[in-house]
Amino acid sequence: IHLQSQHSPPGAKRCCEEPACRQRGRFRQGQSLESTCKELENLVQEQKKTFVPVSIESQTTPAYEHDLNDKVKLETISLSINERQKLSYLKDFVYVLGTRFYSELREAQRGQNLLLPPTSIYGSLVSFYLGASNQTATDLQGLLGFVAPSGDSNCTSRVDGHNILSTLRTIESLLVKNRDEELLYSKTLYLFFAPGVPLFESFLRDLIPSAEALYVRAVDFTNPGEAAKQINAFVEAKSEGRSKQLLTDLDPATSLLFAADIHLAVSVKKASRLKKPHEFWVDSNTKVLVPGMSVTGTFKYKTDTSKTFAVTEAPISKNALLVLVQPIDGNSLDKIEAELPLQSSAWLQDLSPRQIKLTLPELTIEGSSDLQELLTDMKLPALLGKEANLSKISNANLTVRKIINKALFKLNSDGADQPEDPAMHKEDSVFLEVTLNKPFLLAIFKEKSKAMLFLGRVTNPLSRV
Ligand SMILES: *[C@@H]1O[C@H](CO)[C@@H](O)[C@H](O)[C@H]1NC(C)=O
Ligand SMILES: *[C@@H]1O[C@H](CO)[C@@H](O)[C@H](O)[C@H]1NC(C)=O
Ligand SMILES: *[C@@H]1O[C@H](CO)[C@@H](O)[C@H](O)[C@H]1NC(C)=O
Ligand SMILES: *[C@@H]1O[C@H](CO)[C@@H](O)[C@H](O)[C@H]1NC(C)=O
Repeated sequence: IHLQSQHSPPGAKRCCEEPACRQRGRFRQGQSLESTCKELENLVQEQKKTFVPVSIESQTTPAYEHDLNDKVKLETISLSINERQKLSYLKDFVYVLGTRFYSELREAQRGQNLLLPPTSIYGSLVSFYLGASNQTATDLQGLLGFVAPSGDSNCTSRVDGHNILSTLRTIESLLVKNRDEELLYSKTLYLFFAPGVPLFESFLRDLIPSAEALYVRAVDFTNPGEAAKQINAFVEAKSEGRSKQLLTDLDPATSLLFAADIHLAVSVKKASRLKKPHEFWVDSNTKVLVPGMSVTGTFKYKTDTSKTFAVTEAPISKNALLVLVQPIDGNSLDKIEAELPLQSSAWLQDLSPRQIKLTLPELTIEGSSDLQELLTDMKLPALLGKEANLSKISNANLTVRKIINKALFKLNSDGADQPEDPAMHKEDSVFLEVTLNKPFLLAIFKEKSKAMLFLGRVTNPLSRV
């Protein structure tokens, strides 16, 4: 069941819970190990401090949310300095988990648009890892891609989840920093608890690096209809209207609901909006007319060796790459999806620069996934189920029914409506025309680290989901 990495990733601090394991010298990084163990011990002491979240109905912002959101800002700045090497192994773990979830969803949501944020989903699992103890922590660690280096089940080692969250934040924060006109990225975290549940301050502190804003409120889940309404209204207000209908249903037994809300909007520079509607073939018999755009430039491109698909890589900002994968020669998207590369690096391999005229639909697509459903589909329903030990979140028994990652991706031309350069027409022959007029896959990668932020498919640009 586990995604296994045989090598011990460089820079991953581990803490061995049993002194005996340490004596047996199974961990090479002695120095960092000791300090982390001490840090973790200190945390155990601090963990005693708890607080009870205020009601979602409260009109005033509780002091702890002020504190959290101030710290979030500070931390975003102070991080991202020397975390780079760690990205290289983490990005593979993120990718492997992301594609696994993608395969589950593509079956379940046949024919629909899909959008998954692998980095954020991985971060949600790390958040629960930080709240977990005993077997739950061990299982989550395995799912995240880390295995005990010794393979001895009596010798439990713990990866420093806080460290991983900070590193994930580096992937996302470089996008945030680039807060200029062409790209906007934001991530907000919501935790809703049943009324009266005391939670550990230390747990929330651990989550600080994982989003730009963090809200923690109490909700009476025993009236699920009303609770869903309250939560949807709360999220809609905090997202300034961008995120509607987070929930359609709720289980009244819920005592913790976790939601990450991610938004990426890109205005492609130098792109022009098509004067005529763009024809898009949803299937071989159905054509829809959609707003489209086109951009001409030097992009990286390849067709795979068996000529089933073509890949176009277009930079959409200083920090982000948009990768578009379209079936060619009558192949189906299904076939490509079934054979997603095992490693994220394969997406960007063997691409070479070409002069390209890229024509594609403007997009607003949305995706919402529930980790609990995905874990059930992966035959791991118990992992965060009834028996899960989440004793680092709260001493109360928590029932976690939904762990939501909601993502919204918008792609537009920058609106400049540039007249097409007549010089380009003369030389049309040198431009390869790449036109996305049938269902295709898309992915957003961080430019430098090549970490995958989004993975999705567009089957119908007219529909959000
Ligand atoms: C959860 O794990 C903690 C720490 O190992 C342990 O003290 C506690 O008894 C466990 N709780 C349950 C319900 O198993
Ligand atoms: C949890 O951990 C504690 C101490 O590490 C151990 O005594 C206990 O048996 C564990 N409980 C479970 C349910 O594994
Ligand atoms: C783990 O501990 C148990 C009980 O102490 C022992 O019987 C077993 O052999 C140990 N397993 C390993 C792999 O060392
Ligand atoms: C949590 O559940 C366990 C086992 O079902 C029970 O023994 C314990 O009293 C419960 N704790 C709380 C705080 O409700």
